[in-house]
Amino acid sequence: MQYLRDAGVEISEWTIKRDLTSGELVEFSSRADALLSAGGNRIDESFLRSAKHLKVISLHSVGYDNVDIAAATALKIPIGNTPGVLSNATADTAFLLILATSRKAFYMHKTIQNGDWGFFEPTANLGIEIRGKTLGVFGLGKIGFELARRCYYAFGMKVIYHNRGHHAEAEKELKATRVSFDELLEKSDVLSVNTGLTAETKGIFNHLAFMRMKKTSIFINAARGAIHNETDLIDALEKGIIWGAGLDVTNPEPMQQNNSLLSMPNVCVLPHIGSATEETRAAMSLIAAKNIVAGLKGERLPFAVNPEVYD
Ligand code: DGY
Repeated sequence: MQYLRDAGVEISEWTIKRDLTSGELVEFSSRADALLSAGGNRIDESFLRSAKHLKVISLHSVGYDNVDIAAATALKIPIGNTPGVLSNATADTAFLLILATSRKAFYMHKTIQNGDWGFFEPTANLGIEIRGKTLGVFGLGKIGFELARRCYYAFGMKVIYHNRGHHAEAEKELKATRVSFDELLEKSDVLSVNTGLTAETKGIFNHLAFMRMKKTSIFINAARGAIHNETDLIDALEKGIIWGAGLDVTNPEPMQQNNSLLSMPNVCVLPHIGSATEETRAAMSLIAAKNIVAGLKGERLPFAVNPEVYD
């Protein structure tokens, strides 16, 4: 906000703590030259057509699945996002979920709160160890690479990944191997989703995918909830098709408090806090503000999702 004020930008703030309805979004943006959007506001074609006057739409996120990028590009509206600065914090969250899930940490905490910490039974409360096991990354980009580094250096994990192209740095530094989607499912002990939500990735982790995974495997999603089918995930966990799951994102969000995943010992769920640290959110805010100021000046955004608008 200070960066914007220092640049002479007049700010009108939406202070109600929920996403705007499409009508509200149209109305709110009608008198603005730029829009800074946090959360899941739907920036669809219909909104974009009514917002052709906007010089820039700046997202307070790296993900842009809530935006119709093709429509924005056709309308020559630059869309900004915040890549890079959140890779470490988000990888930390995925790493936290791997460890917490493998040792049933959230559930164990609840047993104490419920007064169930009783006799020491050597064969009770057993988790599984991840040292030396195989991490499979679905979508090894900046976040996936940071997660893979943590798993490789801290736990000696073997790294495999499924991407469209090769990730040369991961192959060199971490001896990572690019594999087919089927191989990723079949060989991963921990399978982490670190890709964006697209038509191609939506619901790709479904019953068929879980059926191909190891019975001892852990599914991690700190990317977007809609990449997994939650009914199929619950079924896979209940039937022992996979061993556990750690989620920072759910499908839908917010998750209802009676969701059965919340009472499963081998499941850890967080409310989409992947990048939520003081340092990272401040860095994201600054990039989002810089995108606004550049857009208002008619300059190229420092981080544009659709640089084609400048062609
Ligand atoms: C992102 O930056 O995409 C995070 O998921 C927050 O929405």
